[in-house]
Amino acid sequence: MINKIKKIFNKKNKSKITCLTAYSKNIASILDRHCDLILVGDSLGSVLYSYKSTKEVTLKTMINHSKSVRLGINKSLMVVDMPYNTYRNPQEALKNVKLVIKKTKCDAIKLEGGEKIIPIVKTLVKNKIPVMGHLGILPQSDKKFTFKGKKLSESKKIIKDAKSLEEAGIFSIVLECIETKLSKKITKILKIPTVGIGSSVNCDGQILVTDDLLGLGETKLKFVKKYLNLNKIIESVIKKYKYDVLNKKFPKAKNSF
Ligand code: KIV
Repeated sequence: MINKIKKIFNKKNKSKITCLTAYSKNIASILDRHCDLILVGDSLGSVLYSYKSTKEVTLKTMINHSKSVRLGINKSLMVVDMPYNTYRNPQEALKNVKLVIKKTKCDAIKLEGGEKIIPIVKTLVKNKIPVMGHLGILPQSDKKFTFKGKKLSESKKIIKDAKSLEEAGIFSIVLECIETKLSKKITKILKIPTVGIGSSVNCDGQILVTDDLLGLGETKLKFVKKYLNLNKIIESVIKKYKYDVLNKKFPKAKNSF
């Protein structure tokens, strides 16, 4: 187990794990000073490209953003989301994951899904590739984005999937929009750390999309805490800049050659 993963693993039942997403170097370098794990999430499809679904995100796009993120990370664990249709079987997954690791030098990859991806997880783990799981809302395959764990059958399936993924060798798991009691139960059952997004304080760690927490964009999701309205701050700065340009207050002599 690589050291950074061991560190995260050892936090279970001791201290919470802080995780956020990054899509480029400048944000990644700030997060790196404070986060245990930085995820290059395929959420970049909606956040940066306004895609209707993460299904449109390509491997090339993930690799390009991850290369930029890599430049900003020294100490955090860097995880890259494998996009839709890049891990349909163990062979395809191994080939694409190896490419992602070679090009981006990431520490681990994340895959969405339960029982169906077990042979894929096993193949990757056998090849010494650290895998993070993802259960609950699965943006790459779900049609409706409603929280999970309302029905008993649904809860049982998620618990079974989580156990199977742990047995297959994942080192941690994202739980997306899972009902509070269920996320608590899963966190208690698993030996590996759970990282929640919209899955209550009971998870071992938390992750959010950084743009959402900064108030960059227009998200209104219930589980997001907007710590800042960065849209507003940026707009006021741009207005000042425009004023300076129009009134010949910028550039000054000290900005000129
Ligand atoms: O794509 C993403 O950013 C994610 C997180 C929201 C967990 O998967």
